[in-house]
Amino acid sequence: MTTDFDEIVTVIDGIARKAGEFMLGAQDDTAQTDKSNRKDFVTVADIKSQNIIVEELQKAFPDALVLSEEHDEATRAKMYEDDFTGFVIDPIDGTYNFKRDMRESAISIGYIEQGSPKAGVVYDPYKDELYAAAVGKGATRNGKPIHVSDQAELEAASIATSNSYDDEAMARNLRRHLAIYEQTGVMPWTNCPGSGVLILSYVACGRFDAYHHNGLKPWDNAAAFLIIREAGGVVHTLEGHDAPFTSNTVLAGTPKVVEALEAAFAKADPALLS
Ligand code: IPD
Ligand code: CA
Ligand code: CA
Repeated sequence: MTTDFDEIVTVIDGIARKAGEFMLGAQDDTAQTDKSNRKDFVTVADIKSQNIIVEELQKAFPDALVLSEEHDEATRAKMYEDDFTGFVIDPIDGTYNFKRDMRESAISIGYIEQGSPKAGVVYDPYKDELYAAAVGKGATRNGKPIHVSDQAELEAASIATSNSYDDEAMARNLRRHLAIYEQTGVMPWTNCPGSGVLILSYVACGRFDAYHHNGLKPWDNAAAFLIIREAGGVVHTLEGHDAPFTSNTVLAGTPKVVEALEAAFAKADPALLS
């Protein structure tokens, strides 16, 4: 396995685009199987996209471990080990959007070495936008450098959260968002789109200033956390620590806005930080 992370980016860029091409033609492949509830489901297209990505990764990197959201839990457990090395993929992030033909979903492929993200891509086939980063090399969108916004004022900030399949967890996302208003007197411009991976990528390129959420999974984070950090942003847990890619909670954004949100959340109900 090469340790040239730029080279890995080049290969996974091609693989994500191939899966994206499939997604564009798969709008009718939406037969679903429910997972934890009626909001949480997997479609035929998720599995087909996963098969394309896994097969291509195994062709390009025959010795590498490739783990994906739609693998079984026992297989996925390896990605939580401290010394995990391999690829972590989300074959379609924003499955709910995909099912509803919202055209706002993405593919995520991250490369992790010894528990730490080293290379990653996120591809939005609808806008044909590919976000990429290799550790220490900066972040790009379609090959051009990107940076988080330089927003410093909460009043002008655009802040996102997103859905959780778990009702209690979603209620906490909404209550935490409302806590910004209650603790600061400022209601930020509010977004709740249906792809966490795209929201994180939008933070990286300055379309959003911050994102807070309590239900992310390693396959949502494996590429996008690195892309935000390489774009000059911070990625914390809701408790204010640097977030590992396995973190469920996230407060990511441009540094000054994250700082302002942390000050607000510190005054709110501590239950909102989980
Ligand atoms: C979900 C989406 C959603 C986010 C959820 C994720 P999926 O991923 O990113 O926007 O709020 O937490 O689980 O299931 O569509 O891959
Ligand atoms: Ca998914
Ligand atoms: Ca996801």
